[in-house]
This record gives sequence, C-alpha cells and structure tokens, in this order.
Amino acid sequence: MLGRRQVFRVVATVLVATGALALVPGAASAQRFIAGAPGGGDDYFPFAGNGGYDVEHYDLDVTYTPPPAAPAALVGQLSGVATIDLVATQNLDRFNLDLRDMDVEAVTVNGKPATGIEPPAEGTVVEDAAYWQVQDDGARIWELTIQPRPKIKSGQRARVVVTYGGDTTRPTDIEGALYGWVTTRDGAMVVSEPEGSMTWYPVSDHQTDKASYSFEITVPEGKVAVANGLPVGDPVTEDGWTTWSWDAPDAQASYLTTASVGDYTLHETETPDGLPIIDAIDDNLTPASRAITEASLALQPDIIAFIEDRFVPYPFNSAGAIVDDDSVGYALETQTRPFYSRIAREGTVVHELAHQWFGNAVSPERWADIWLNEGWATYVEWLWSEDQGGETAAESFDAIMEIPADDNFWDLAIADPGPLGLFLSGVYDRGAATLHALRVKIGDEAFFEASRQWLKRYDDSTASTDDFEALFEEISGQDLTTFFDVWVRTPEKPTTW
Ligand code: TRP
Ligand code: ZN
Repeated sequence: MLGRRQVFRVVATVLVATGALALVPGAASAQRFIAGAPGGGDDYFPFAGNGGYDVEHYDLDVTYTPPPAAPAALVGQLSGVATIDLVATQNLDRFNLDLRDMDVEAVTVNGKPATGIEPPAEGTVVEDAAYWQVQDDGARIWELTIQPRPKIKSGQRARVVVTYGGDTTRPTDIEGALYGWVTTRDGAMVVSEPEGSMTWYPVSDHQTDKASYSFEITVPEGKVAVANGLPVGDPVTEDGWTTWSWDAPDAQASYLTTASVGDYTLHETETPDGLPIIDAIDDNLTPASRAITEASLALQPDIIAFIEDRFVPYPFNSAGAIVDDDSVGYALETQTRPFYSRIAREGTVVHELAHQWFGNAVSPERWADIWLNEGWATYVEWLWSEDQGGETAAESFDAIMEIPADDNFWDLAIADPGPLGLFLSGVYDRGAATLHALRVKIGDEAFFEASRQWLKRYDDSTASTDDFEALFEEISGQDLTTFFDVWVRTPEKPTTW
C-alpha cells in the first residue's frame, strides 16, 4: 500500500533516525507527520481500506442482542470493543478506520484516550488527541478518524481500542444485495464482500491489509455464535449470556470475516489428515434442504483432498460451513467457514472450498481482479464435475462457447467489470472459460505448475491480473499478451487467441 514517494520518505526517516538527528539538514521535513489516506486506493470502492498503517491483528469482543419476536422490526443491537494492533507505515498525525452506521463511544491509542468531537472544518488544527466520524451514505464514505497524541512514528506499533455500538439492520452493497451484519429474527448472517465488514467493526476494509483475528462473541444463552478458525475452549455462560471464543490466526481479508449468530448446532469432524472441520447447521432447515446439505458437507474431506492433489495443501487451520435458515441470496467463502443460505448444494460447496485457495489465500489486489476469484472457483467446479463422471471441463467450456456472439454475456471485459459488475455471470463463466482456454493453450503441465506457483508466491497476500499474466508467461515461456487481451480485456466473444 506504500506509494513510491512514501517509501522514499520512510527510508529517509530511517536513515535520519540512525544518524545524529538534529545535525542532518532536512531532518525536520523528513520527520513530518501527515494524515493516513482515508481510502485504500481501490477504484471501485475508494474509501474502503485506509493508508498509513498495516493492521496485524483484530480482537473483536462483541455483544449482540437479536431482534424481538415478530412483528417487531428486524433490528438487533450490537456493542463492541475492537482491539486493533497496527504498525504505522508512515509518520502518522492521524489515521482512519472504516465504520458504517455505528456510534463510537471511546477510543484509546496505546492506552491514551482521545476525545470525541464533531468533524473539524477543513484546515482547522485540532491540538489534542481526538476522534470523529463522517457518515455519508450518498458518497459511500463511512470514516472514523483518529488523531493520536503522541503522534505515531513510521514503523511504530500501536494498539487502538475502539468501543462502539448501535442498532443492526440489513445493510446492502452497492448493487443492493444484502451484506455485512445482516440481522435475522434468530440472529445474524455475517457476509461482507466486498466492503461490508465496516458495518460491524472498525476496520481497514480492503484485502490489501490482511490480518489475524480473534473473537469473543456474547449472545443470549441458547444462541450459537460461529466465526472463522477454531473455537477457544468451551462457550462460557453467565447470567443468561453465552460467550463464544474463536481464533483465526491465518492472514485474512476483512471481507472474509464472519461472526454469524443463530440457532445452530455445531458438528465437529476432521479430514483423514487431521484438519478440523466445524459445521454450524441451523436447527430450522427444512428436512429436504437438511438432507441435501448434510450429504454435500459430508463430501468436504474428499473435495479438499481433490483440490490439494491438483494444487497445494489446504491453506488454513480449519474448515467447515455455516448453513443458515435465512438467506442473503448467495453463498460466501468466509475464511475457513463458508456461509450458505438455506441449503448447501454439492457444486456450491466445491465452489466455496475452492475459494479458500483462490480468493482467500491469494486475494484480488483490486476489486477489478474479481474474475481471479470467481473464474477459478467456477473452474474447480468444472474439474470436480469431470472427476465425478459428470460433464467434463471441455464440455463445460463448449457450452459457454455456444453462447452466441451477440449475447450480452460477452459484453464484459472481465478484468474490469465495474463495481456493479462484480458478480455478473461473465465474471464466473467467462472467467472459468478463460482458465480452460489457457490450459489448452499452454498444456496441462505448465497450467497446473503455474497455478501452484500462483498459490505459493502470493499466499497470504493479494495479486492482480497483470501478476497472473506475468506468472503464466514465465512458467509457459509463451507470450500471452494476445490471449489475455482477447479473453479478459475485450468485451467481445473471443474467436482466435
Ligand atoms: N462471492 C460469492 C460467491 O460466488 C458471491 C457473492 C458475494 C454475491 N456477494 C454477492 C453474489 C452479491 C451476488 C450478489 O461465492
Ligand atoms: Zn464465488
């Protein structure tokens, strides 16, 4: 996230710091403290993520009261204490976190309290430690600005504690789909792609700043709260409230964080290799969807082994699923524990498991790169189908190529689908077809070797379409410029490549 000039400034500061500070000309300007950027620089969601620091860990201690029984409004109540460990990547006069429709009650930085104030007018100097919030739904600007005192030097660690809370509703993404902390009658479905995590905790809400997570989620006794990773001890009940603790030590993008609450029963198993699998299944699924769901989830060890055989070992400390009786209208690959609306079908389980490698371990550098998530997850569905004796990958590819050239399916340059086009069918199916065409062009050996290299080189990180193209050129030894232009950058049906 460092721009070239900022890198230079940091280096200069380090040199100065090791020398005799006061004697070095220009030391004063190299020591300037400035505001961290209010956005992570993503063209599609300019104010998601923030500049000037890297988060290492989020500890989220939240208490949630689901809505009262119908006909009361579907409004819950959340209060939280987020403890955020970060490292400054520039000299910070102030910095931002993203937080949407929640009220901040207190902020400390390294134990020192800041005072809540109204947003100061442009150019106004605020002397003391302070914080303020800007909430502009029209421009999708939801920012918490924190001005710590003393200021934070580049390279310095800081612990930021934000106490916050508010009503929870049913937030929607830029195209109107439910996401974030989605309140249900019996709890909440927490699915935050692309920038919905800010609806429930203060966060640098962009995948370029991955972090580890821990959770303590307190809910009314009888409710189950399930997050990423592994449980820490048994749930603790006191005075009618139960606290569920989870630990997710693997680097995680914010959109993959979950803390869903419901009338779940937890089922714990493991793969033959000893990978823990924890499924949270809603007690209120219909019998038909429960039967299909249980059969699909029973395949998880086989699906994981299938993907490991072709690519690289499973990247995280645990696996599993959350299946809710309510629906957001889609499934999401929440890290280690995908979320399924009402039912988990076999193809969807393959898709969400494939995302643990393609999307979660290696995440899109920018939201424009979403085809690298959805194309891969769809392609692994094709591979699984072939392996199971169903439609072959070649047949799936042929079916896509039967779509007529004048169909608007082809009107999409999938390497830049736009913020309203993230989940168009072209991103999924043309994305998968791109991978199949690439495999045929460079051969199985180069294709799977480059895929493994992709997963190794960019593990726990992010990568772009350009990175992908460069790596496949490197491993195959072929010039793939025309291939990628035709398949991912041209809004027309490919004919030759
Ligand atoms: N990433 C999800 C998947 O393919 C899909 C998804 C997330 C989605 N948000 C959405 C689909 C909004 C439609 C609308 O596994
Ligand atoms: Zn997907």
